[in-house]
Order: sequence, then structure tokens, then C-alpha cells
Amino acid sequence: MTGVTTEHYLELSVFSTSPYYARVHVQRVLEGWRRDDLVETARLLVSELVSNAVKAHASCRAVAETAHLGPDRIWMDLYLVGETVVLRVWDADRNPPVLCTPGPDDESGRGLHLVDLLATDWGYYRPIPGGKIVWCALTAPPLSPEEPAVLAREH
Ligand SMILES: Nc1ncnc2c1ncn2[C@@H]1O[C@H](COP(=O)(O)OP(=O)(O)OP(=O)(O)O)[C@@H](O)[C@H]1O
Ligand SMILES: [Mg+2]
Repeated sequence: MTGVTTEHYLELSVFSTSPYYARVHVQRVLEGWRRDDLVETARLLVSELVSNAVKAHASCRAVAETAHLGPDRIWMDLYLVGETVVLRVWDADRNPPVLCTPGPDDESGRGLHLVDLLATDWGYYRPIPGGKIVWCALTAPPLSPEEPAVLAREH
């Protein structure tokens, strides 16, 4: 299968509760796709990306120039391409995310390390209108033939 099959977009306030709403959104979409097996990992991934976006966006001077959404908004979406779920998070900061190797006593620098460990791939790009999108991908292996039947019985 090629191309984007489904897209689910959510605008979020630049606020400390935004990772929570992002987790809820991702869980609902994945459950709708019958991909409950990916929920736990995807929730963690989106939580880290949105937390970073909130921090970056809140301290970013470019917000006023790039905020087609309003100065206090970021967005996220997720879509399914073939056997891959892609999560994307936009913020107004043009600076890139920086992968760290946290030591045992470090209190920060863990988020992207986790993303790097759990995601199949991740990266960022700068769309022309402004800001930046940090994305990560998660492999969605084909469900076994029994699984849809189990799900059907539960609903
Ligand atoms: N969306 C982003 N925009 C700009 N810089 C980012 C973004 N995400 C991450 N970074 C940069 O990469 C660094 C590493 O991010 P990472 O999530 O690993 O650690 P952290 O956010 O500093 O701490 P922790 O996630 O452990 O609370 C950040 O300190 C920040 O400098
Ligand atoms: Mg972080």
C-alpha cells in the first residue's frame, strides 16, 4: 500500500497539559485503527515530542511570525502509511532537536533518547511556512488473522 491512508490532526495549546491531550488523541486514533498493540509506545513517543515542542515553542521568538495558528498553538497529527504509523509534531522554533546521551545522574536529555530507542526512525524538517516538524515512525506489523475476531467479540 502506498500513500497516506488516514490523517488525524490536533491543535494544542502551548501548555503543560498538552502532552496529556496528545496521548489521549493518539490512543483514540490507534484504537480506531485496531492497533491497540501500538498504543503504549505511541503514547510515550508523542508525549516526549509534544513536551519538547511546548518548551521550544514557548521560548521561541519566531512565534509571532510563523503562528498561522495563533501565537500559543502547536499541532500534531498521525497517519498510517503501509505498515508504518507516523507521528508528527509542529512548533514555531526553527532550531533542531538534539539527541543527547544522558548519564545516570542527568535530569534531562532523556526524551529524544527514548524516542531514538523506541521509534523505527525519527527526524525533523522545516516546512516553508515556518517552524519545524519533528516526526517519528513506528512499525505496525500485520495483525494475525485471529486478532480481528478477538476484537470483534469485545465490541
Ligand atoms: N522541538 C524542539 N525544538 C527545539 N529544540 C528541541 C526540540 N526538541 C528537543 N530539542 C532540543 O534537544 C534537546 C534534547 O531533547 P530531549 O527531549 O532529549 O531532552 P530534554 O527535553 O532537554 O529533557 P527531558 O526530555 O529528559 O525532560 C533539548 O534540550 C532541546 O535543546
Ligand atoms: Mg524532552
